[in-house]
Amino acid sequence: MSEKDFIPRQYSNKIEKGEVTWQSPSNIALVKYWGKKENQIPANPSVSFTLNNCKTTTRFEFLKKSEKSETFDFELYFEGKKKEDFRPKIQQFFERIEKYCPFLKDYNFKIHTENSFPHSSGIASSASGMSALALCVMSLEKELGSNEVNNEEYFYKKASFLARLGSGSACRSLEGELIEWGEHENISESSDLFGIKYPFEIHEVFKTFQDTILLVDKGQKQVSSSVGHNLMHGHPFAENRFAQAHSNLDKLKEVFASGNLEEFIAIVESEALTLHAMMMSSNPYFILIKPNTLEIINKIWEFREATKTPVCFTLDAGANVHVLYPEKNKAKVLEFIKNELVVYCEKGQYICDQVGKGAEKL
Ligand code: PMV
Repeated sequence: MSEKDFIPRQYSNKIEKGEVTWQSPSNIALVKYWGKKENQIPANPSVSFTLNNCKTTTRFEFLKKSEKSETFDFELYFEGKKKEDFRPKIQQFFERIEKYCPFLKDYNFKIHTENSFPHSSGIASSASGMSALALCVMSLEKELGSNEVNNEEYFYKKASFLARLGSGSACRSLEGELIEWGEHENISESSDLFGIKYPFEIHEVFKTFQDTILLVDKGQKQVSSSVGHNLMHGHPFAENRFAQAHSNLDKLKEVFASGNLEEFIAIVESEALTLHAMMMSSNPYFILIKPNTLEIINKIWEFREATKTPVCFTLDAGANVHVLYPEKNKAKVLEFIKNELVVYCEKGQYICDQVGKGAEKL
């Protein structure tokens, strides 16, 4: 599919007003997206687990304007209170998607959002937030009635396509359990434009994988992800890094099918450290991990060696640590986390999550 396929031909219904609510989860990348081209096109393919508990709920109210105007008109509420800080991000999102959703200037919108995870936990809400909003826009498009949108596959593809224009990794948050995004020569359905359900065999162990997120640093990110992605332009290791992501996706095919946890751990931890190595070796360079991030990593390695429990870590563009492990090891790993890792978390806070099935319309 190409971008043109997402430009609607015509709508058959007139909709005066209504509302829709979607709840959409966050996701955690196993092969990381870091580096992008124009129009939110990823420099390399990535794959992620969709999460279950960290999610955004967005209620989207729409009321037709008496006359079409030349502006996007919307009010934003976060946890019940007006929130002006998010305006520029939503304005930019509407500008980027207008070509594909030409009805946006016909309506006044009220957008109410809330997150299930604590505000300022250092957990990015852009993936869950942008995917929820993209799904709301698509529900309105569906009511307006175009031929294509009644097809469920098209609905999700276009919603993922729109979410990507809001925040790249948001395109991986709509469905479960494993989502791939970005062209890869050995994944024929793959696309730079939207995420797809991982199309090959997935071993049962990965369908209930656990992710306990240790909140090491709840502060604001020092570097926004857009700035971070841009630092891959002209990065001395960029081409090798992009090639490595392709090769790690190839290696994961066998791992996802067989449930080979040793190999899974080796790829996932290497991806996390490579992401941070790219940040440390860009110009300008920066370090987002904290001393406690390293303490936790070392403790996980010691515990894994001593107990042979298949537990590993991954990182986002921040100091927090995602601890990944099979459901059957849950009791033992949670005990380890409580006894040995919680001391490294800010205010002892952590979030228990696991692989989920994707967004839901409420
Ligand atoms: O979606 P963005 O632009 O916030 O980028 C997210 C990048 C990482 O979280 C670091 C990696 C990933 O693939 O999710």
